[in-house]
Amino acid sequence: MPYPTRDLSGTVVAITGATAGIGAAAAGQLVEAGAKVVLGGRRQERLTELVERLGPDNALGVQMDVRSADDCRRLVAEAVAAFGRLDTIVPNAGIGLYGDILDNSDAEVERMMHTNYDGTVWAIRAAVPAMLETAGGGDIVIVSSVAGLRGGGDEAVYAGTKFAQVGLAGALDRELREKGIRVTAICPAGTATEFAIGTGRVENDPRFADWLTADDVAHAITTVLQQPRSVRTTLWAMWGMGQQA
Ligand SMILES: NC(=O)c1ccc[n+]([C@@H]2O[C@H](COP(=O)([O-])OP(=O)(O)OC[C@H]3O[C@@H](n4cnc5c(N)ncnc54)[C@H](OP(=O)(O)O)[C@@H]3O)[C@@H](O)[C@H]2O)c1
Repeated sequence: MPYPTRDLSGTVVAITGATAGIGAAAAGQLVEAGAKVVLGGRRQERLTELVERLGPDNALGVQMDVRSADDCRRLVAEAVAAFGRLDTIVPNAGIGLYGDILDNSDAEVERMMHTNYDGTVWAIRAAVPAMLETAGGGDIVIVSSVAGLRGGGDEAVYAGTKFAQVGLAGALDRELREKGIRVTAICPAGTATEFAIGTGRVENDPRFADWLTADDVAHAITTVLQQPRSVRTTLWAMWGMGQQA
């Protein structure tokens, strides 16, 4: 008997931070797997390009900033208006600014905390009622980081935001499992994306050769969703073979 992998056809997945990197790769893989995707991000031209590439029947772009609870509610409302339901939210938008505790400005630190943690909470608060109402349950797949499991030098504030996401996922699993919502924290190690370019990494950084790719992480997101609904993955940590755990 083949394993009863869950068919994602007809499911609707909203992804924050879908204009680049892991979010854009996840959008592509999820459409391949039959899902409809709703893409959130600030850069309209990237959203337009991606929707064209994925096909307007499969994808909707919503220009939004995750630091705004209203924008997160609009993302969800537009998803339901366009596709009739919401099955999954992927709070993925995030920024990383390297530095010791005093190295970044107050404004930069605030931007990182608001984007990475507040943005995750706003997206989930917007999505949960819609998932329960339109799909009778669903999935929350938070893109955190291995920095959220063990920290790392030169990125304490970033690591704190990522720990907060892992803590939130664990607590929400206790709250939402009985309502039919699965909650997963995906924790990738360094991934070769635009993330942090200009703040510690450079384009074609030689370190990228050993790193995970956006597609590696997108595949983890897709796999979690394809597991039968009798199974839930609460935590998925992943490294490239060349990366020290
Ligand atoms: N790359 C890594 O090494 C790595 C490792 C572990 C975990 N992660 C996590 O993976 C997630 C995705 O990162 P990535 O590597 O794919 O980075 P990326 O290529 O830089 O993409 C980040 C995405 O977040 C969006 N974003 C940033 N601020 C936003 C805001 N205020 N509102 C809405 N969207 C916003 C960006 O879109 P706009 O600029 O268009 O808004 C972009 O689509 C992050 O949470 C990051 O912490 C990354």
